[in-house]
Formats: sequence, structure tokens, C-alpha cells
Amino acid sequence: MNILILGSGGREHALAWAVKQNPKCDRLIVAPGNAGIAQVAELADIDMLDGAAVVEFCGENAIDFLIVGPEAPLAAGVADAARDAGILTFGPSAAAAKLEASKGFTKEICDACNAPTAGYARFDNAADARAYVEKMGAPIVIKADGLAAGKGVIMGMTMEEALAGIDEIFGGAFGEAGAEVVIEEFMEGEEASFFILSDGENALPIGTAQDHKRVGDGDTGPNTGGMGAYSPAPVLTDAIQKQAMDEIVLPTIREMARRGTPYQGVLYAGLMIKDGHARLVEYNCRFGDPECQVLMLRLGAQALDLMLACAEGRLDSAKVNWADDHAMTVVMAAKGYPGNYSKGSVIGGLEGLAEDSWQTVFHAGTKEKDGKITANGGRVLNVTARGNTLREAHAKAYALVDAIDWPDGFCRRDIGWRAL
Ligand code: AMP
Ligand code: GLY
Repeated sequence: MNILILGSGGREHALAWAVKQNPKCDRLIVAPGNAGIAQVAELADIDMLDGAAVVEFCGENAIDFLIVGPEAPLAAGVADAARDAGILTFGPSAAAAKLEASKGFTKEICDACNAPTAGYARFDNAADARAYVEKMGAPIVIKADGLAAGKGVIMGMTMEEALAGIDEIFGGAFGEAGAEVVIEEFMEGEEASFFILSDGENALPIGTAQDHKRVGDGDTGPNTGGMGAYSPAPVLTDAIQKQAMDEIVLPTIREMARRGTPYQGVLYAGLMIKDGHARLVEYNCRFGDPECQVLMLRLGAQALDLMLACAEGRLDSAKVNWADDHAMTVVMAAKGYPGNYSKGSVIGGLEGLAEDSWQTVFHAGTKEKDGKITANGGRVLNVTARGNTLREAHAKAYALVDAIDWPDGFCRRDIGWRAL
């Protein structure tokens, strides 16, 4: 099979790494990819937001299966364009990707199927939003409705922060994504991520993970896209997974199908767990980054079979084979991230690393320059390892981190602390 993966981050490197191990994969192309992905796949330079360009490329290269990594092409309808052209595709339609692309839409779906989530209200102007916050009081959560690269959520821990958040969003900080605001009850508890494949009708859980959003050790400092993750997440016990499936995920999938916009792809449910009960924080219409890296290390080659079963509507007969293992990924970022950082510093020590099915380094933002790997983003490497216990995975991942020679990079030293 010839397979095309869209994306350029650590998530797509992990997807490519897993897909490549499956004997069904003959030719693997990633667009646009990065320097690490180039070590396992061919790269192609196409605009992944342009559905017509993606379809044309698939035709020219006899692509049998398209996997869409990030949310932006999904929200832009690239999966629709590919399916309309008869290309087998993993990833939801633009209409179904609204579960990530509009927070207000997700709340509407939760209401329709009675799924537990934070109480909320929607606003299209600052005056009404401010009046609502003044009535409800802090803490309260202010969200831009649309896609804002993970930055559109403001935790109003005080009234001042909440009101400033409303002004920021309606002031245009997130452009069109902030034309509407969702204001939510602040939920306490422990957060975890639950990944489910859906073919529109059937649903198959494929793993749990927890990430670390704050930049500094001990969960301090500003929020990031994620500084590390581990899988499984012990807080998501079998009982809580069952409750989340019965009360949140399955009703959502049924409601999406009932509306004529079935959800096909991976559904990433961000959950808040308190007193043995999960409530929905948000949906994403793609794998988490860096959560995908730990899931792929654990699933290995079967990830391709699962994604094919999903795209072909065969999930009712698919199952996951677990090795009873644990995985961890540590994000190495450029100094200064998530604020200002510089690009171009050379990363040494990568060539000599012992990489196998138990440990590997996924590249999130790298570029090859004069034969050397250089940093090309904020989050740069995802140092990933697997073990029979989380402690073993942790020891292996940090041994790899210590073997990498990158003075301009940093990482958290406490990934997994909650579970360890
Ligand atoms: P979201 O993009 O909706 O996932 O929000 C980003 C992060 O903000 C989440 O991962 C949570 O840590 C936090 N968050 C979002 N909504 C709430 C809420 N209603 N209560 C508490 N924390 C929240
Ligand atoms: N790591 C969080 C996300 O992918 O949204």
C-alpha cells in the first residue's frame, strides 16, 4: 500500500514510525514532514490545507490510504475532498471536526445527548459576557469558540483575569476564532486524555494518556502545547473508561450520526475526573501531540490496521492487542519556549543513540542544515521510551535525554510524577 500522512510534528513522526513497521506499507510519504520524519519516510512539499492539491498528489502517487494528522486540514475539509475523490481516508469530515473547531458546537452536542460537562453559556458580545461573569463570579473559564492553536482558553481564577480574558478575545486576539465566546464553570479534578477510534457507528478505545501542560517542573510556569506524556493514565480506571464511553463518547457518536455528520477518525476526549466520575473538558478531532507518541510506541505496527479498520467501517470486528506496557515521552524544547526562542541551534548526539521498539526519539520541529540536525520550532524533540513499568520507561527516556547534546534546549525532569 502507498500511504500519505499529512503533518510535520512529533505526532506525525510517531504515526510514520508505527505505520512503517507494518508489512502492508510499501511506500510512505509525509507532507510536509521534518528532518526526523525524513529518516523513515519520503517527504513531499504540498500545502496540506489545500484539498485539491492533496487529491492531485494522491492521484499522481497512487496513494491508497491518506492519514490526516493535525486539526487544521480536517477543519478545512481536506478529508472530505479526499473521500469525495474516492481516496480511503483516516480523519473526520469538516462537519464532524466541528467537535474540535467549535467549542459552542460541542456544548450543543453534549446538551443533545445529556453528556456530563461543565455548565456554560455562549456570547457574541463583550457586554453580555462581562455581565454573566460578574453574576457567576470567579473562578470561571473563558474560551474563544474556534481553533486558536491551543491558546484560546483563559482560566479566570480571579474576576480581573476573567474580564481581561473576555476583552482579549473580543478585542480580536484570536481573530475569527474569537467572534464567539463560551464561558464555563471551572471544573476541579484530575485531567486525562482518552482516545477512541470511531468509524461513524462503532467505537473502539485505543488508549489513555496524561500530559503536562505547564512548562516548568512541579507544574509551574506558563501553559504549553504539552511538555511530556505517559500512557496508560492510571486515573482512567476501567470503570471510569466505561462510564466515559457510556455517558459521553457513545452518545456523541450516535448524535453525530443522527445529524447526518458521522464521526470517522480518532476522537480525543479530554476528561476531568473527580470522585470516580468523568466529565468532558473538550474534544479534539485528531491524536494529541505528544500523547500520540506514547500511544504509537505502545501500539506499534497494529496502529495501521486499526486506522484502516476505522476508515473502512470495520471497527466492530477490530481489537487492540496490549503488551501490558507503559510508555513515556519527554519533550525537549528550545530555551525560551513557550515565549520567544531562537531557531537554528545544532543538536548533537542523536546519531549514536540506541533506538529500537523500546526507545526512540521523535522529531517535533527539526530541520537538516549542512548534514546536521538543527532546532526549527519551540517543541523540538520527543524523547520516548517504553518499559514493563512506568518507572522503567521513565529511566530509559531520561537516559536518552542525557545522551543528547543540545545546550540550547531544555526539558522538564519530572514527567510522570503524578503516576510515579
Ligand atoms: P481546552 O482547550 O478546552 O482543552 O482547554 C485547555 C485546558 O484548560 C484544559 O486542558 C484544562 O486544563 C483547562 N480547562 C478547560 N476548560 C476547563 C474547565 N471548564 N474547568 C477547568 N479547567 C478547564
Ligand atoms: N497535548 C494536547 C493536545 O494535543 O491538544
